[in-house]
Amino acid sequence: MPALPEIRVFATAAELFRAAADEFIRAADAAVEERGRFCVVLSGGSTPRGLYSVLAGPPPVPIAWDKVYFFLGDERNVPLDHADSNYRMAFESLLSKAPIPRENVFRVHTEGGDPREEATAYEQTIKHFFRLEPGQLPSFDLVLLGMGPDGHTASLFPQSAALGETQHLVMANWVEKLETYRITMTLPLINQARCVMFLVSGQEKAPVLRQVLQGDRSESLPAALVRPVQGRLLWLLDQGAAGD
Ligand code: 6PG
Repeated sequence: MPALPEIRVFATAAELFRAAADEFIRAADAAVEERGRFCVVLSGGSTPRGLYSVLAGPPPVPIAWDKVYFFLGDERNVPLDHADSNYRMAFESLLSKAPIPRENVFRVHTEGGDPREEATAYEQTIKHFFRLEPGQLPSFDLVLLGMGPDGHTASLFPQSAALGETQHLVMANWVEKLETYRITMTLPLINQARCVMFLVSGQEKAPVLRQVLQGDRSESLPAALVRPVQGRLLWLLDQGAAGD
């Protein structure tokens, strides 16, 4: 039975990012202690930049950075130096500022030009990293997610094809309203996480967030379909998003 969501509301963005950093540190310390490494999925967009900046410092937060392995939950179909690149945002705000070995970062390679091939390659990267048996699903220690005002998360947009994916870990997902492909982790992979932490800020998200937290499980609300099979589900919100 999936765990009930843990919902925490913060008066300021600074408090939200500090709490998110504390959760990140807790998860990292526990994973390194129990399994010798911390495998984390970074989210894109703009909200997470605040968390990444807290983690990076200076000084960087005191975790075993050399035992942290970074993946991206989704990527836009753009070059890695493009302003819209999630990797670029993570690199500028965290990956280039904390003592992270380059070989510990696994980005989506978008320079190939074919999003379907890129999605397949990223899925193989994940399977190889976790040394998966056929049909086995990996459990990331922490998956960071955001939510758009339309209820999308990662690059799982309402009514998009990847929402129904049950086998692949990563898909190239056509996003009609953006008229572009996105590469995204799928729900089967996300829902295997030991912990999923949403960071949601902004009053424009309050109406959809209310529906999501009320348990509306339709494909028009992808964020509501994130229900870790056995892991924790955290929602860290500012007062605007919480509708306070
Ligand atoms: C992306 C993100 C996306 C993001 C939401 C919310 O590639 O855009 O993965 O799912 O989390 O759009 O973005 P903000 O938190 O910046 O509003």
